Amino acid sequence: MPDTGLLPDAARTAPVAAGEVVVIGLGYVGLPIALEAAAAGFAVTGFDLDPAAARVAEAAFHGRRGAGRLVATADPRGLPRAGTWLICVPTPLDAAGRPDLSLVTAALATCRAGLARGALVCLVSTCQPGATNGMCRAALERDGMVVGRDIFLAVSPERENPGATSPGPRATPRLLGAPDPVSLARAHAFWARIADRVIPVASAEIAECAKLLENTYRLVNIALIDELHRGFAALGVPTRAVVEAAATKPFGFAPFWPGAGAGGHCIPVDPAFLQMELARAGAASSLLAAAAEANRDRPARILAAVEQALGGTLAGRRVLVLGVTYKPDVPDLRGAAPAALLHALAARGAEALWHDPMAGPAPQALDGLRRVDDPAAEAVDAVILGTPQRGFDLARLAGLAPVVFDPFGLLPPDRRVRAV
Ligand SMILES: NC(=O)c1ccc[n+]([C@@H]2O[C@H](COP(=O)([O-])OP(=O)(O)OC[C@H]3O[C@@H](n4cnc5c(N)ncnc54)[C@H](O)[C@@H]3O)[C@@H](O)[C@H]2O)c1
Repeated sequence: MPDTGLLPDAARTAPVAAGEVVVIGLGYVGLPIALEAAAAGFAVTGFDLDPAAARVAEAAFHGRRGAGRLVATADPRGLPRAGTWLICVPTPLDAAGRPDLSLVTAALATCRAGLARGALVCLVSTCQPGATNGMCRAALERDGMVVGRDIFLAVSPERENPGATSPGPRATPRLLGAPDPVSLARAHAFWARIADRVIPVASAEIAECAKLLENTYRLVNIALIDELHRGFAALGVPTRAVVEAAATKPFGFAPFWPGAGAGGHCIPVDPAFLQMELARAGAASSLLAAAAEANRDRPARILAAVEQALGGTLAGRRVLVLGVTYKPDVPDLRGAAPAALLHALAARGAEALWHDPMAGPAPQALDGLRRVDDPAAEAVDAVILGTPQRGFDLARLAGLAPVVFDPFGLLPPDRRVRAV
């Protein structure tokens, strides 16, 4: 670990927080951290409001016992007075697209109920700048305990990239910020046992903003390359070849690839947390707003291209979307652009069909839409590549309809294949 000079000397010799850890929220983020903490020798209690998630965690715990102990529960009354509490609950947007922090508030109430003097609470969920020092501190100090003196508070935003290639919590470098040096030292002693590299930063706000910058950077660049993909297509230049060529520059360029629109629970969501605070400070980012809007509109733009190619109407047309998860090789449909596309097709009167071996048996996000097991057995008017799953034979799939739309630039454009 680089010596950033932020940890007091005491931190290097500080005893690790007492061996009990509570992980609140056992989803994509909380479960792997709970497993890693147990492997590191902690006694871990996973808590999830959803008994099904607690059961899944319990099964995972049994399969992978480490040096420590692991239990999962959906009953907050069963939680120990642990030395370390990790908040790993969702931070989605509400129906109006505004950050919804109600689950973090509920998780803080759970911490408060079991918090002993000397305990550390660490926010792992993605929140707005100021959340740690603001809402978290206010909730935890409500009973008269003071952060930095009686209890300790830190933020270590999750940077995990779920999927088969995920490096996992140990290998992903952890940012760590805290309102005071003692909290930072306490949190560092904990995380240094879970992750190979912990990077302390000078404030909680730096850690919060860094996490949001990472995904805002991705959203803006994805929106840019999606737009340029249409532009390069209009120029008759293959986008992926352009990106590959640009990526040979050894500095100052990071490649982004076109697609059907960034989905999932992070890239389209996290920038809204940053924008909320920027707006509150009178410094909203117009570039971020334009990127968010372009990304939201991406399915509608694809739809418009399909409609135009099919003679100006989608009513009665059969359109097949290949790949529906929010990115390749994961089963997750949260915020998936192909799902938005399918619903929009159906709303315009098209018969919207989908095919995706990666999606679970009956994804709720696609309720009412027809799944197709063998795309070659369907006569359709158009095919749209929604998500290029690794198992797809793209050359074969491109031959399934008189017109094929490829938002990814993976198929060589020809009379039939359109870049959108
Ligand atoms: N999934 C990712 O790849 C990823 C990556 C980086 C950051 N994050 C962030 O991490 C946080 C967690 O995301 P996730 O993907 O793990 O969510 P998730 O939906 O997979 O899991 C969250 C779990 O928390 C539970 N929960 C909700 N409220 C609770 C409460 N009050 N008490 C106890 N349990 C509660 C839910 O039942 C669910 O099982 C979010 O802020 C997210 O933005 C996620």
